[in-house]
Amino acid sequence: MNAPNTANARDAAPQSVRGMTDALPAESAMLTAIEAACTDAFRSFGYDEIRLPLLEKTELFARSIGGATDIVQKEMYTFEDRNGESLTLRPEGTAGCVRAALEHGLLNSQRRLWYCGPFFRHERPQKGRRRQFFQAGAEIFGVETPDADAEIIALCDRVWRRLGIGGLQLRLNSLGTEQSRREHRAALVAWLESRADDLDDDARARMHDNPLRVLDSKNPDTRKVIEQAPRLDDYLDDESRAHHESLQQMLGDLGIAFTPDPLLVRGLDYYTKTVFEWVVPDGGSQSTLCAGGRYDGLVGRLGGRATPAAGCAFGIDRIALLAQPQTHAPAGLDVYAVVVGDDARREVNRLAGQLRNRMPHLRLVVNCGGGSFKAQMRRAGKSDSKLALIVGDDEVRDGVATVKDMRGDLPQQRKPLGEVPACIENRLSS
Ligand code: HAM
Repeated sequence: MNAPNTANARDAAPQSVRGMTDALPAESAMLTAIEAACTDAFRSFGYDEIRLPLLEKTELFARSIGGATDIVQKEMYTFEDRNGESLTLRPEGTAGCVRAALEHGLLNSQRRLWYCGPFFRHERPQKGRRRQFFQAGAEIFGVETPDADAEIIALCDRVWRRLGIGGLQLRLNSLGTEQSRREHRAALVAWLESRADDLDDDARARMHDNPLRVLDSKNPDTRKVIEQAPRLDDYLDDESRAHHESLQQMLGDLGIAFTPDPLLVRGLDYYTKTVFEWVVPDGGSQSTLCAGGRYDGLVGRLGGRATPAAGCAFGIDRIALLAQPQTHAPAGLDVYAVVVGDDARREVNRLAGQLRNRMPHLRLVVNCGGGSFKAQMRRAGKSDSKLALIVGDDEVRDGVATVKDMRGDLPQQRKPLGEVPACIENRLSS
């Protein structure tokens, strides 16, 4: 038998892990712009940033998201570290945020926090669904009244406005308190058992450990059957009902339209009362761009003093699919410095420092690796820079440099070296 061809295996170019895609510069620029729209809105609503680890102890997610959910049962990247401790790459941000807020005593008074970064779920990759994806999330702690729910939704509305995204549908539901959910659950399980023959395998498998998720079935036949199932809203306690009505009134006052969706249950167990999703109408199964709700029981469940909370998370990758590429193209260069000769290199380095001090946001590339004047001018052209700053040893001897307009047809200017920074600043601002 032939030995395995190890040389070939070694030489094969490495590939990324399935579902964990690289964002090349154009996509990265778009993701950054979307993250900035979210985080600017968070800051403008008085939320403070919290940076959380990508890894947490596995039991945190089992205890918060719920042991019977798809995320915990099927989608987590879980492994033992070198000490034999079970760790998990975070599949969402709320659990870690609550863990950190508790660990650092941040919940003694009202608290508004935001985070942004990569999250990991072992789902089947497809358009709008990745195994590493990006979220920007906001959480408010310590407010039990519906004004906090309304604030979170208004925050979302602000982000859509900043991004120029219109036509989204806000689906809204109330899951009630843990008590009302328990009562509804018992009635639902009994009803599902009575209709088991009419349900699909998936629904039958879930009806005992996670019956609420059956209501979320995507199978049209099952959906038809469950239309008659006991509805959660019939079991809502008076307080949850009043909370929900008051929230709807506030959304009306804010001019934010919503669609009541009594079948909306969400895939995480920590929610109580309000749940919502912002969806692209008729956008298929990956159409939810942002989702969230209230989770009054989670802080207590993780060992803290009972603290009401609400929040949301934006799916940055999904929003990027909607955004117009040209509106988020990577910013072009302002100046490409062409340098011919050693004296010129010294002078250009000095000028580059002055320019960067004067204009901190200037995008300036100094040619590296030498090359003829012609070759460097070709690079300057390819870089799509607004201006070329041209310095050769002859220019240095005469104490001048040339500034050339690369996009328009303004005349080339030869300027004394001391006047170059002001000349470039003027050219860029005109
Ligand atoms: P979630 O609904 O699981 O909620 O995720 C929020 C958003 O993240 C989704 O609406 C979607 O846009 C995006 N998303 C989720 N999974 C993927 C994926 N595999 N690929 C691409 N995008 C994805 C949460 O995570 C909750 N922590 C939200 C929250 C915060 N609730 C209260 N506070």
